[in-house]
Amino acid sequence: MNNRPDRSNRSCYILAVETSCDETSVAVIENGTIIVSNVVSSQIETHKQFGGVVPEVASRQHVESITLIIEQALKESGIAPAELSAIAVTQGPGLVGALLVGMVAAKALACALNLPLIAVHHIAGHIYANALVHELAYPFMSLVVSGGHTELVLVDAPGRFRVIGSTRDDAVGEAYDKVARALGLPYPGGPHVDRLAREADAAVPLPRAWLEPDSYDFSFSGLKSAVLAALNQARMKGEPLAADHVARGFQESVIDVLTEKALRAVAACGAKQLVLAGGVAANAGLRHRLAERCQAAGVPLLAPPLGLCTDNAAMIGAAAFLKWERGQFASLDLKAEPLLSLEDWSVQ
Ligand code: KG4
Ligand code: ZN
Repeated sequence: MNNRPDRSNRSCYILAVETSCDETSVAVIENGTIIVSNVVSSQIETHKQFGGVVPEVASRQHVESITLIIEQALKESGIAPAELSAIAVTQGPGLVGALLVGMVAAKALACALNLPLIAVHHIAGHIYANALVHELAYPFMSLVVSGGHTELVLVDAPGRFRVIGSTRDDAVGEAYDKVARALGLPYPGGPHVDRLAREADAAVPLPRAWLEPDSYDFSFSGLKSAVLAALNQARMKGEPLAADHVARGFQESVIDVLTEKALRAVAACGAKQLVLAGGVAANAGLRHRLAERCQAAGVPLLAPPLGLCTDNAAMIGAAAFLKWERGQFASLDLKAEPLLSLEDWSVQ
């Protein structure tokens, strides 16, 4: 079973499944770089009423959607199931109940079609979303900024990851969402804070968490607390702060630290490119500042188009191709791993 992959010269078509959080997504990817189809069904409208993702509700919605989304992705691809080369699925990290739905669907497909199964790390997917639109040059430095992760990752060869810095508390997207909530903005708050920050004509001064001088780690919980304290104190004085000034102050603090550490890491590691990844990569302020700084430093900056920044299965298909090329397949007793490590997932 699932051990006779055809890795001859014909195109490789990977059907990829992503259900790690609140998007049910299925894609068909050709040779790790071409999106044949990519269907994303977002649950944002459902979770909005709770102000954040409710894990049990997310799992249930994945169950309701997954079969339809698989059918739609296959239909839009024009690829017959018999032409597929492998089935890929996000193994982790993510919400365990949500991951399980994609895992069971992917295993059922691999079993029924007698195809190899490929386990994919969600963050490897975010990083390799860039392979769908850009030519990657190794070694590169990836700045991963999402709802659950904030990391600087050195990728010295295809699929080989070394995490050189990560957040010690909140992920940057999480901080965006919490600040947005405090400002009364809808979930997910990141895009709203980004928009307000751009419209603002002044910024509330807020601290920057640089940590130790040589550290590539991040910390955002102090900044989030500083925002909440500033809002409370102003409210008590009867002079509430303007939401856009708070958004601008918060965003400037975040961007200063992310940009500075990312460029320092690029220089220290001799990286050929800076590769932006994750949902917060959609942030206009961050993209703009990184573009300016990278241009001044002569470092090519790669970023996915907005639609490939947030969760999608196309990126999972792109990362899966790294394992396909090396014949590294998973067995059908693969388990969902909510805390899967990126370095451990590296290709051998
Ligand atoms: O990568 P992603 O889709 O999910 C995770 O893997 O976590 O990232 C979602 C996060 C949310 O926190 C959302 O608020 C944030 O990305 N986000 C943004 C923007 N667009 C999405 N944050 C700041 N600015 C944006 N424009
Ligand atoms: Zn993600």
